[in-house]
Order: sequence, then C-alpha cells, then structure tokens
Amino acid sequence: MKNLFDLTGRFACVIGGGGYLGGPICEALASHGAHVTIADRRFDAAQAAAARLCESGLSAEALALDVCDEPAVGAAFDGLLERHGALNIVVNTTTWSTGKKMEEMTLDDWQAGTRVSLGGAFVVGREAGRIMVRQGGGSIIQFGSMYGLVSPDPRVYGAKWTCNPPDYEAAKAGILQLVRYQAVMWAPHGVRVNAVVPGPYPNPAGMGADREFVEQLSRRVPMGRVGRAEEIGGAVVFLASDAAGYVTGTYIVVDGGWTAW
Ligand SMILES: NC(=O)c1ccc[n+]([C@@H]2O[C@H](COP(=O)([O-])OP(=O)(O)OC[C@H]3O[C@@H](n4cnc5c(N)ncnc54)[C@H](O)[C@@H]3O)[C@@H](O)[C@H]2O)c1
Repeated sequence: MKNLFDLTGRFACVIGGGGYLGGPICEALASHGAHVTIADRRFDAAQAAAARLCESGLSAEALALDVCDEPAVGAAFDGLLERHGALNIVVNTTTWSTGKKMEEMTLDDWQAGTRVSLGGAFVVGREAGRIMVRQGGGSIIQFGSMYGLVSPDPRVYGAKWTCNPPDYEAAKAGILQLVRYQAVMWAPHGVRVNAVVPGPYPNPAGMGADREFVEQLSRRVPMGRVGRAEEIGGAVVFLASDAAGYVTGTYIVVDGGWTAW
C-alpha cells in the first residue's frame, strides 16, 4: 500500500529553519524523504541545521534569506525551481517583534513586528503560490500560534516574563485568514495552503530554562506539560504530504489542549 506520508522526490523550503522549531520540522520533512532547503535570515543557523541533517544521511542545504526582502524571496524560489525542477513544499516559521509591552509600543514598533510576522508570511505565500500555480500544485504551510486564537493569560507570566506582544498576536491571527484567502484563490490550481498553530514550546535557551515558569505554563495545559520541539513536525509532514491531499484553507492546532478550555 502507498505510504501517504512519503515525501521522496519532493523539494521543500523551510524558512526560519534555523530556529527552535524549524530544526525539528526540517528533520521531519527530510526523514520522510524530502530534500530540504533550510532558509533563514541567520545563515549560520541555517548552515548548522543543514549540516546536522546531512551528517545523519538526510538531504538538505542552507540558504540565506530575509522574508522582508521581496525580490530576494522571489529570486530564491525561482533559483530553487531552476536547480531542482520543482518546489513542492514551502513552510514559513519566521517571526519577529520588538517584544515591547503594549503600553510602550509605538506604531513604528508595531509595524516593524507585523512586517516580519505577517508581511513576511504574505510575501512567502505570494511567491510560493506564483510558482506552484504554474507548476500545477504544491503545499504552503504557515505558522500561527495559540496566541492568534486566544489571548495570553497575564497571570501565567507573572512579573518575571512579559506576555507575547500585541503585534505578534495580531499577526498570528492574520495569518489564519491569509491562509484561507490564498487557499481559496489557488485551490483550482492544486495549491494547498494551511497553517500549523503551536501551543507552548518554550525554548530551553530562553523561557524554557526557567523551571518555575515552565511548571506554571504546564499547569495551564490540559495535557499537563509543555510541547517538545520534535512534536510539531508530524503536523507539517501531514500537511505537506498526499495524506492531506483534500486539506486546504485550515489549520492544525498542536497545543496539548491549551485552546480547548
Ligand atoms: N516556540 C513556541 O512556543 C511557539 C508557540 C507558538 C507559535 N510559535 C510559532 O512557531 C514559529 C517558530 O517558532 P520558534 O520557537 O522556532 O521561533 P524562533 O525564533 O526560534 O525561530 C524563528 C526563526 O525565524 C528567523 N527569522 C526571523 N526573522 C526573519 C526574517 N525576516 N527572514 C528570515 N528568517 C527570519 C529567525 O532567525 C529564527 O531562526 C514562529 O512562527 C512562532 O511564532 C512558536
């Protein structure tokens, strides 16, 4: 029987692939057979992630890319198409914010954050769609957040940490509608557009190192724990693969139940 999740012969590009969740996402796609181009504004991080995959016998390469550089995004996808003959899967995990509190955030701060987190998603989606429509198919996967569905509970963050900033939350909510819009526009061309919506996956290099905070966060999750980075790749592989051949314009929440109560 055909393995519906097999990505052998598919070419994927994961933007933000040098990040905390980006690495395991690239690994999940590559271990299902895809060749993965790991793109990131931080080229060193993309290179390190690609080297890790290649060392384990998987197929990957690194690319320097800034999602806010419109011509560069288009040129990068054109280059991948030319080199590989196809661009089947594009995943965008990029996000950025000044991280300022709402009361201190200026319009410039807001615009700088939404430019990357929502504007970047728009540019990536538009340029991937342009190629995939011509090609007659493909899968675009954007990254939302539980905080695009519900607001953070400030009591969980206490005095030590600040809640995710408002530009982030608005961008993440916007991504879900962007996905629905692009999905409808490109459905006749076989291009599927969806989002993955992660719950709490605190990065051990930051908030995740604060044991007390992680415990506090875990108490808020029906499953009683935070997510492990490697638990996000399954949803991406599903959406990228033929198993999701009739899935478009929607999102998969991977949050241990955070948004269920
Ligand atoms: N980690 C979590 O708990 C969590 C929770 C909910 C949603 N998410 C979402 O999942 C996605 C991945 O999260 P993460 O924890 O891996 O974040 P991360 O910050 O570790 O990774 C983001 C990556 O994007 C890259 N990037 C930022 N701006 C860029 C730009 N302009 N062009 C190209 N690359 C750029 C960064 O260099 C980084 O490698 C994000 O969209 C985030 O909002 C994460």
